[in-house]
Amino acid sequence: MELIKYLQERKKLIDEELDRYLPQPDEAPETLCEAMRYSVFAGGKRLRPILVMAAAEAVGKDKELVLPTACALEFIHTYSLIHDDLPAMDDDDLRRGKPTCHKVYGEAMAILAGDALLTRAFEVISKNREVPGVDDAAVVRVIQIVAHGAGCSGMVGGQVADLEAEGKTADKDTMLYIHANKTGALFKAALCAGAVLAGADEEAIAALERYGEQFGLAFQITDDILDVEGKTELIGKPVGSDTKNQKATYPSIYGLEKSYRMAEESVAQAVDALRNFSHKAEPLRQIARYLLTRSY
Ligand code: FPP
Ligand code: MG
Repeated sequence: MELIKYLQERKKLIDEELDRYLPQPDEAPETLCEAMRYSVFAGGKRLRPILVMAAAEAVGKDKELVLPTACALEFIHTYSLIHDDLPAMDDDDLRRGKPTCHKVYGEAMAILAGDALLTRAFEVISKNREVPGVDDAAVVRVIQIVAHGAGCSGMVGGQVADLEAEGKTADKDTMLYIHANKTGALFKAALCAGAVLAGADEEAIAALERYGEQFGLAFQITDDILDVEGKTELIGKPVGSDTKNQKATYPSIYGLEKSYRMAEESVAQAVDALRNFSHKAEPLRQIARYLLTRSY
C-alpha cells in the first residue's frame, strides 16, 4: 500500500461528500453558507474522516457505510479550528494556509459558522441511519460517542484546560489532560464511531478506542513539535504560535528530543492495540507511523 496515494484518494472522496452535506445557498443565509464552506474547503488533510472509514474497514465493512459520520467529524474539527483562531482564543490570522474565518467574514459570522458546523454535524450523523446496513441503535450510540468526545468531557474540556494553562508551567498530568482531550478525544471518537457503525464487537471497539487515544496523543505531540520546527508554508499556520501564546506544550516541558520519543512510544502503543486485527487494519498501522515523519 502506498500511503501518500491512499491519503490523497481518501481526501478526494471526502471532499466530494463534504460538498454534498454542506448547506446549499437556498437552505440558509448565503453569507453563513459561504463562511462554512470557506473554512471547510480552506485545506485540511481530512484525517478524522479517513480514520472513521479506516476503522470500519479494519473490521471488514465498506467505507460507504460511514461516509455521513466521517463528514460530520470534519465539520466538528473545522468548527473547532474556527473558534480556536478567534481573537478571544488564540487570535490567529492564518489557518490551513489561508486567512482565518474571522479575518474574512468578521468575528460574529465566524462564531456562527462554527456553531452551524457543529450542529450540522449531528444532523448529518443522524442521516447515517438512511445508509442500508446501518442499525438505528448504532447511530444513537455514535451520536453519544461524538457528543461526548466533542463536548465538556472531551475537546471543549481540553480547550478550556489549554486556555487556563497559558502563561503557566503546566505539570505533566495537566499536559496529558490537555492533549488527550483537546485533540485526542475527537480522534478517539472517530475510531469508535467507525467501529460501532460497522457493527464491530465490543473487544474490537475497545481496541480501536485505544488506538484512537494513542494516535491523538502522538498527533498533538507532533503538532507541538511542528510549531517549533515546522515551516509556515507547510503547516498552514504561523510557526511559533504556541510560544507566542505561552502555551503548555510537550516541547516546553520535556524538550524536543524527549517529546519525539514520547510520540514514538504512543505510535507504538497505537499499533500494538491492533495486534489482533488482520491486514485490513494495515492503513491504520501505516497512518499511525506516518505521524512521526509528517511535515504538516
Ligand atoms: C490541527 O489538526 C488541529 C489540532 C491539532 C487540534 C487542536 C485543538 C483544537 C484547535 C481544539 C479547539 C477546541 C475548541 C472547542 C475551540 P490537523 O493538522 O488535522 O488540521 P487540518 O485538518 O487542517 O489538516
Ligand atoms: Mg490555535
